[in-house]
Amino acid sequence: MLPVVDLSRRGARYADAFAADACRIATSGQFLLGPELDALERELATYVGARFAVGVASGAGALQLALESAGIGRGDDVLIPGFTAVPTASAVLAAGARPVLVDVDADTACVTPAAIAAARTPATRAAIVVHLYGYIADLPTRLSEGPDDLIVIEDVAQATGAHRGPLTSTAAAYSFYPTKNLGGIGDGGAVLTDDETIAAAVRRRRVHGMTELYRHEDVSQNFRMSELESAWLRLALPGLDDDVRARRRIAATYRSAAPHLRWQQSQEEHGYHLCVFRSREREADRGRLADAGVGTAIHYPAALTQQPAYRAMFAGSHCPESEAWARECVSVPCFPEMTDDEIALVADALASLPGDEPA
Ligand SMILES: Cc1ncc(COP(=O)(O)O)c(C=O)c1O
Repeated sequence: MLPVVDLSRRGARYADAFAADACRIATSGQFLLGPELDALERELATYVGARFAVGVASGAGALQLALESAGIGRGDDVLIPGFTAVPTASAVLAAGARPVLVDVDADTACVTPAAIAAARTPATRAAIVVHLYGYIADLPTRLSEGPDDLIVIEDVAQATGAHRGPLTSTAAAYSFYPTKNLGGIGDGGAVLTDDETIAAAVRRRRVHGMTELYRHEDVSQNFRMSELESAWLRLALPGLDDDVRARRRIAATYRSAAPHLRWQQSQEEHGYHLCVFRSREREADRGRLADAGVGTAIHYPAALTQQPAYRAMFAGSHCPESEAWARECVSVPCFPEMTDDEIALVADALASLPGDEPA
């Protein structure tokens, strides 16, 4: 069965070069916060087109530290999409703030500036906009520079390689979880920002809030990224543009083979971390694809209103589109190492699906 993503092929691309890097790091004695991370941060900032990149331990950590470093905490409401990976919500809670749900758009699976504007209250201090599946969502305009300004954090976990500066958000949180467009050999993440104060705060907060050895200016914990992870990401970064081009080509092939399916809305800059269509007969379609040798996955089977740990917290939220996406979404194989034969196999299988009746 062709999987939705095959990380062993990704690993094989960098294995030899990484073996040499791993030996060098092992004998250097510098395992954390060393030259590999410094170089990765410079290369990432240049690649994205942001002034600062600060490497951290995960995408969830990047979101939490971006929020905290922008001054978000207890008593603040943070708007987030009703349909996203759960870490978008847990990061807000970890920062001590309150996540408030905004329903997503039926076509893009992302929040819109209009929905964010409608959800704002005097307690709203920030909004996290998630570029879900790699779709680059429009950001709300920040109304003014001042205390009433909305802090906008981008969750770029699924849009690496498609998200480029100049940044109009306060900060952008990246994930290097292995399946991501820029995937690590373990966990990793980064905060990208043009704001020097925020970058400095993330740097402190990733090491227990220390400004110098054993002097702690902020209450924080350990969010360090290892030198091994940094070295791996440096090997992968130069190929990221080609990888995203390959993802776009795969998605375009599927869409033209199966225009009758209800695909997430397309756009030129889409990063296609995931290639997703909606089906009212999801399990039947997944069965048909499996019969053709095509694996599928569900990202995600529940909206935040439906997750056991969050249901009670979001009991008052009204998110029908988020719940519809959770009910109908299907992810199909989309990774840059796919062969032309594999792409054709998936395209043919998609073309043969019946498609939904008009609603
Ligand atoms: C949209 C989104 N936000 C946040 C995260 C959290 O990233 P990480 O797994 O690196 O903590 C992920 C990935 O799992 C994600 O897909």
